[in-house]
Amino acid sequence: MKKVGIIDSGIGGLSILSHLLAMQGQCEFYYQSDHSNVPYGGKAQDFMLAQTLKMIDKLVEKQVELIIVACNTLTVETIDILRKTYPIPFVGIEPFVNFINTDLYKGDEKVGLILTPATSKSPRFNELKVKLDPKNMIEVVPLHRLALIIEEMGSTGIDNHIQSLEEELFPLKDYGFDILLYGCTHYPLISKLISKFLDVEVYDPHIAVSKRVLKLLNVQVDSVENHESVNFNYASEIADDWSKKQLKDFCFFN
Ligand code: DGL
Repeated sequence: MKKVGIIDSGIGGLSILSHLLAMQGQCEFYYQSDHSNVPYGGKAQDFMLAQTLKMIDKLVEKQVELIIVACNTLTVETIDILRKTYPIPFVGIEPFVNFINTDLYKGDEKVGLILTPATSKSPRFNELKVKLDPKNMIEVVPLHRLALIIEEMGSTGIDNHIQSLEEELFPLKDYGFDILLYGCTHYPLISKLISKFLDVEVYDPHIAVSKRVLKLLNVQVDSVENHESVNFNYASEIADDWSKKQLKDFCFFN
């Protein structure tokens, strides 16, 4: 079994882990988050970096051989430093701006990208945007509360936060997007709700990230039946408190 680490501020990385669990059964996953401090997206880079280093140290103790930074915000803010600091490979995730250069884009749809405020302001994201979307076809809309609302859904149930969700998404209706891209790993967890409320097509690029991870690890990409019942190691806080979890323990996967 190859040991693989995953970090996110909170539960967002489960949207990546779900594809990994669906595609193979040859790795042991360690998912470390910092639930008490979600959302990271409105916080300072110094703070995020300090927390990230603590999370990575916990995974290094578990002797993982690769770490997935399953968070757009942490990728743009910290991945260069992480790669210089630790001798293990890191796989990050960035908003799928390249969408407009693929066959998926027909050329006449209005495309939006929702993400955290930190990601939208980061130099790394802005360089990527100019490089891959020089004509500025994609409209970028930072959302201040969406990651937190989804995190809270994970703790106290989806239904208790529908009103907050609709308030947060309501201003997006004015843009008239046909396609919405995600720049935060929390968002795919409620894709069905987002696409229904806004009447848009949403695009989740995480399958591609997961395939890349499996290729790097040199493991076979097979589909796993009932992947919602596969065990993984989970620590919601940076506190050495690991437990065995399955996706079906989280409301988004029921
Ligand atoms: N899931 C994280 C991302 O992909 C962000 C959540 C947060 O703001 O803490 O950007």
